[in-house]
Amino acid sequence: MSIYLDHAATTPMIEDAIAAMSAQMVALGNPSSLHTPGRASRKVIEQSRESLAAEIGCAPSEIIFTASGTEANNTALKGLYWKGRSVGRNVVVISAIEHHAILDPAQWLVNHEGAEVILIGTTNEGVLNISQLAELISRRADEIAVISVMHSNNETGVVQPIAEVVAIGNAHSIPVHCDGVQSFKKVPLSFSDLQLTALSLSAHKIGGPLGIGILVLKRGLEIPALLHGGGQEREIRSGTLNAPAIVGFAASARADYPSDQVNQLRDELAAGIVRVIPDAYINGSGERLPGIVNATFPGTESDTLLLLFDGQGIAASTGSACSAGVQRPSHVLLAMGHNDKSARSSLRFSLGATTTRDEINELLTALPSVIERARAANLR
Ligand SMILES: Cc1ncc(COP(=O)(O)O)c(C=O)c1O
Repeated sequence: MSIYLDHAATTPMIEDAIAAMSAQMVALGNPSSLHTPGRASRKVIEQSRESLAAEIGCAPSEIIFTASGTEANNTALKGLYWKGRSVGRNVVVISAIEHHAILDPAQWLVNHEGAEVILIGTTNEGVLNISQLAELISRRADEIAVISVMHSNNETGVVQPIAEVVAIGNAHSIPVHCDGVQSFKKVPLSFSDLQLTALSLSAHKIGGPLGIGILVLKRGLEIPALLHGGGQEREIRSGTLNAPAIVGFAASARADYPSDQVNQLRDELAAGIVRVIPDAYINGSGERLPGIVNATFPGTESDTLLLLFDGQGIAASTGSACSAGVQRPSHVLLAMGHNDKSARSSLRFSLGATTTRDEINELLTALPSVIERARAANLR
């Protein structure tokens, strides 16, 4: 038995993306070259850019290809910070539940570039505390270089009130960046409707290839680059464009994501967990991504759970970083009011387009004995 419930970490490539990518892998030509093979590569990239722009709700010229969501986040956060700092703004405002691909560059800006970072907390349900943000802006708007809040959280799936964040930012001419990596194609997300300044996306979360991301950056806005070289992508991201990965990304973005089906299975899993383990509880509520269920199992350790599930052929995740073999409690769950112990007793199951009801049922069948053994191990 092999059940993969870690689709939020990465999900299988869809067949159309594999086919499109495979065809492009045998095509010759650097897209920056002026000869015929080069222009042919450039053409497929520009067609892919147009097709992606239609899915994202932005202009093709607003798309900057990067090598990952992490790179898009770093480029946006550092670039917007440096732009703000050049006019005397050195404060970076982010939510306390951001992915490490925002938390860590923000901390780097503190350590190396004179930034002050302010974290905005969440409710116990994992939703950004908008009144805390509004109160901060009312006092310090003139000092803020950038606000960055994720569209939905990768550990709990809770969708964040981005439209309200943008309304606050725009009222004070503060650029707003949004990490949309988990939301793209799963819940409605349009760059132009949201009036964002910048948005990060990644292909491997939606059935595209690993190692290709997008930074959508508002038309006309220029920010300092992280990579310098050939001047590609508005001189913000130098480097030969990865034509096969870009074509694969575009193919995956054109495919429909089966939101209703995944939503249904997510709800069945969440209800099943609290039915078979009565003292377990689900973290986060309100509007959520279709695929994510984060549950706390009191009296267990999440890394023990992970290994016990793995022994049963079930792949899940803690969602939090593991450093030098020591599992740290999730910063997301801590921000939602968990203590160290309960945060360390939590696990994320993430479903995808290929997840079946049989898999959910098999997980629920395995759950009581896994929890029993994890509890016994915890008492030793
Ligand atoms: C919310 C969020 N942001 C950013 C990333 C990083 O994306 P990538 O794996 O493309 O670097 C991830 C991946 O786990 C994510 O979940």
